[in-house]
Amino acid sequence: METSRRPDHEPAAPSLGGSPQVPAEPLLAGRTALVTGAASGIGRACAQALASAGAHVHVVDRSGEAAKSLAEEIGGTAWVVDLSDPAVVDTLPADADVVVNNAGIQHVAPVHEFPPDRFALIQRVMVETPFRILRRTLPGMYERGWGRVVNISSVHGLRASPYKSAYVTAKHALEGLSKVVALEAAEYGVTSNCVSPGYVRTPLVENQIADQARTHGISEADVVGRVMLERSAIKRLIEPADVAEAVLWLCGPRTGHITGTSLSMDGGWTAN
Ligand SMILES: NC(=O)c1ccc[n+]([C@@H]2O[C@H](COP(=O)([O-])OP(=O)(O)OC[C@H]3O[C@@H](n4cnc5c(N)ncnc54)[C@H](O)[C@@H]3O)[C@@H](O)[C@H]2O)c1
Repeated sequence: METSRRPDHEPAAPSLGGSPQVPAEPLLAGRTALVTGAASGIGRACAQALASAGAHVHVVDRSGEAAKSLAEEIGGTAWVVDLSDPAVVDTLPADADVVVNNAGIQHVAPVHEFPPDRFALIQRVMVETPFRILRRTLPGMYERGWGRVVNISSVHGLRASPYKSAYVTAKHALEGLSKVVALEAAEYGVTSNCVSPGYVRTPLVENQIADQARTHGISEADVVGRVMLERSAIKRLIEPADVAEAVLWLCGPRTGHITGTSLSMDGGWTAN
């Protein structure tokens, strides 16, 4: 993986033979990133990774204390908002060079019992708000001639599972939005991609494991290996830092041609 920072269009510096090495500038020095759902799990890992690469990170989350303490830890700015009200997007900064649309929620029920207001809420948080955030931030990226949009999708952006109608619908929509942005933004040096993980070890998933182990009277290892990862070739949860590493890579100098894609990180699930 490339770690030096230079614009996509700039040629690599010639080798200087025996002269002393100048320390490389951090990959995202001078850049601003906005990460939604940044107070926990994958979003938190993304915010930490982008900050370590030199970006100033806008930590956007409804969970106030966690957002503020992370922002303090990484030298970013906390924005405590509820993204289920898409109008709050107009109060967020418009100057992001990197946008990570990550905030997400789940609800499990068969379609004929699925509460319509819950379905609509999930589409607002996971589709309309990302659309509005991009509508707000893309003009600045276009003006500056560089930008990276990374949408945290899911294996459920590519495949369906029963009882997750709202989530599967929203993630498929996010994949579509991401591709449209890729087409529109290409001429401005802006890429748009999805990262689509299988099960990631976040607080949400760890609670589900404990619950299912209790409910089914099986071990937590069996919940992971036999229930959650039944269709995955690799029977291990993905770590949030691994997802963040993929996000960071998509923000790097060698990925300017990767756009409109979905990077599966699913242990072979979608190959099955
Ligand atoms: N954990 C997994 O296994 C997994 C797998 C594939 C994709 N994903 C996706 O990754 C993303 C992050 O998931 P996670 O597991 O890290 O979840 P998480 O629950 O650990 O974190 C989600 C964060 O989003 C915030 N959030 C939720 N609704 C919000 C709202 N209305 N306004 C503001 N903030 C809100 C929460 O406060 C929380 O901090 C989601 O889009 C999820 O669908 C997760």
